Amino acid sequence: MEERQKIWNAAAGPLLAWYDLHRRALPWRGTRDPYRVWVSEIMLQQTRVAAVIPYYQRWIEELPTVAALAAAPEERLMKLWQGLGYYSRARNLQRAAQVILSEHGGRFPEALPQLLKLPGIGDYTAGAIASIAFGQSVPAVDGNVLRVAARVLDIREDILSPQVRKEIRQLTASAIPPARPGAFNQALMDLGATVCLPNGPPACGDCPLGELCQANRLGTQTALPVRAPKAGRRVEELTVCLLLREGRVALRQRPGHGLLAGLWEFPHVPGTLDEQSAGKAVADWGLTPLDWRKRLEARHIFTHVEWHMTGYLLTVKGDGPEVVWVDREGLEALAVPSAFGKFLAEARSALAEPEGPAGAHPASKPIK
Ligand code: ADE
Repeated sequence: MEERQKIWNAAAGPLLAWYDLHRRALPWRGTRDPYRVWVSEIMLQQTRVAAVIPYYQRWIEELPTVAALAAAPEERLMKLWQGLGYYSRARNLQRAAQVILSEHGGRFPEALPQLLKLPGIGDYTAGAIASIAFGQSVPAVDGNVLRVAARVLDIREDILSPQVRKEIRQLTASAIPPARPGAFNQALMDLGATVCLPNGPPACGDCPLGELCQANRLGTQTALPVRAPKAGRRVEELTVCLLLREGRVALRQRPGHGLLAGLWEFPHVPGTLDEQSAGKAVADWGLTPLDWRKRLEARHIFTHVEWHMTGYLLTVKGDGPEVVWVDREGLEALAVPSAFGKFLAEARSALAEPEGPAGAHPASKPIK
């Protein structure tokens, strides 16, 4: 047997013993309901455990079954997902729930090929559901598992390359103890999240695999895993307008496709505009600026693009065809993505205060 496979197989015993003592108490553990396992795994993609917990709890309370999810209004899904990012995950969950009802009679499919056909389910998620909910000996290799494997096996190639991922998947598949596939996969994830840490030195003194670990032996822990640098992100500059009118703020809905599809946003225009140019944009929407109150700056990083935003808080009069005016309650009812978080907080506090008479802040007043 290949040396790496021998080491990885030898890891299973100490890893499971460690997991039985140190596993994290997470709200989706202690259930094998495939619906719950699936929802948690989708939420956990690219998102930290601590951030996911309250979202998961709200979601399960409101949508406890595949049937409830399949029937939920889209606006409600977006609201439940608001702040988690990558909103296509929520839409895919619902599409998959509808497929489970229409093609599987409402019973969650167990076979990997069927799981892999559901929208939003790839190798990792299918492996997690099959192993955790259905006890099948299939791997679930996420970033944590790649890091642990790279270190324990001293793999020095780029862990994001398809060949290396494939090798780690195969090694892991062969190392799974048949009695506890779900525990084994989750033990690797927990070890990666709590001991074999990313970004900086791992806690090798606490690691159940310390004696087996090749990186620990060779002192290469902090150099591993090797990841080829990502292609640079595009920067987009935006000027965001927080338009206040009679206790309401203007929102508009994003197009139904592309980044943040269908979510609600404050109207904005491309570029970093000064007050005068922003005023022209506001006039183009059919509105008249009355009182410029505040200038704000914010940034948001997406996978492929970075937004550098300048915002203006101002009162206006008139009505434009492109926007809807919402009061504080309306603002809370619509899904505004976290990219606009700073502006959302500003709009909330502006709606909580009286606007004051027009002209109380002269339009010419400089803003800082
Ligand atoms: N990250 C993603 N899925 C996980 C799980 N089931 N347990 C721990 N961490 C995870």
